[in-house]
Amino acid sequence: RTLNWNPVMVEKQGFKHYMLKEIYEQPGVVRTCLEDYLRADWDGDSPFSPVQLPLDPSLLENLQHIQIVACGTSWHAGLVGKYLLEQVAQIPTSVQYASEFRYAPPPLLPNTLTIGVTQSGETADTLAALEMELKRRQGLEGALQPRLLGITNRPESSLGHLVPHIIDTRAGIEIGVAATKTFVAQLMAFYLLTLELAWQRQSCDRPRLAELVTGLRQLPAQMEQILESQERYIEALSHDFAETQDFIFLGRGINFPIALEGALKLKEISYIHAEGYPAGEMKHGPIALLDAKVPVVTIAMPGSVFEKVLSNAQEARARDARLIGVTPLDEAEAQHTFDNLLPVPEVDELLSPILTVMPLQLLAYHIAARRGLDVDQPRNLAKSVTVE
Ligand code: G6P
Repeated sequence: RTLNWNPVMVEKQGFKHYMLKEIYEQPGVVRTCLEDYLRADWDGDSPFSPVQLPLDPSLLENLQHIQIVACGTSWHAGLVGKYLLEQVAQIPTSVQYASEFRYAPPPLLPNTLTIGVTQSGETADTLAALEMELKRRQGLEGALQPRLLGITNRPESSLGHLVPHIIDTRAGIEIGVAATKTFVAQLMAFYLLTLELAWQRQSCDRPRLAELVTGLRQLPAQMEQILESQERYIEALSHDFAETQDFIFLGRGINFPIALEGALKLKEISYIHAEGYPAGEMKHGPIALLDAKVPVVTIAMPGSVFEKVLSNAQEARARDARLIGVTPLDEAEAQHTFDNLLPVPEVDELLSPILTVMPLQLLAYHIAARRGLDVDQPRNLAKSVTVE
């Protein structure tokens, strides 16, 4: 009897594409980050920080401002980071496209941490933005001295040589051009950095910090639950979009960047035009695009903007759009708002992006696979963009 396998299949461990394999690796990536960087012996009464990042303490002292530079999916991770750093650690944070920052850097502020986020560690624009920041601060004294941090899964990359402090996101190498596991790993780095800063600055009370730590520890099992319960349904649902030409993704608050990421995934691998919007902005233009031919994927997670998002979704439905909800609502609760549900477990709003991005990755994957496209090597894109 002959075994039906080839070396590529072994590397893909039976998955049809690297992208799908990497989507399935995500719970493990989060688990590794938690094991390596969150102290197992920490509870709400511990006299030490819950986080153990290998960073020089002086890097984070007396910060007044954080600026994040990145491209593509890593820029979306930066936007989630900004939400966390501002809302939990209370540090004003700006997020810039590296390609913009390098030619129009903002005026220098004191006690500023500059964070470069890049999965490859080789993106030319991100490296150039960081180099520029380093140069313009070199030789300056005191609070204006450069403080640079890199977030990457490739500490051995050019980024690792340029920047003295690195958070290794532990995601390992990613082969699919569309970033998936490296994105959730970057989000994890921002959760950990935020908790560390919140601890140091006492910007968050102990019970809330303990709640977030407990919530983080529950994520891997919740991620596995999404993969187990959703994949078949999403695969079947993707058949409905064989001819679809446009998609809109809506989210608010910490899930607005996830709407952007859902749209980017779809553009990258299925070549469908897709736009992500903060749901409250829909009425200022994009609502004119809506009709029965444009599906609207809405992220509706309980929390500070839940009711607002639901009412934004209902406005879209009133324009005949097909509404797909990423939400923990059950069918009875959701029937007035959504045509299809991509259920995710109910979770602390601040932690929800790690879960809400997964059905969107699967949706993009299955639509592209259904269309017979080269999921792992989409046209015109490269895994690392080492030219400007
Ligand atoms: C390329 C990839 C994107 C990625 C972006 C930034 O355009 O196709 O998937 O998000 O680069 O890459 P980086 O390695 O800096 O995270």
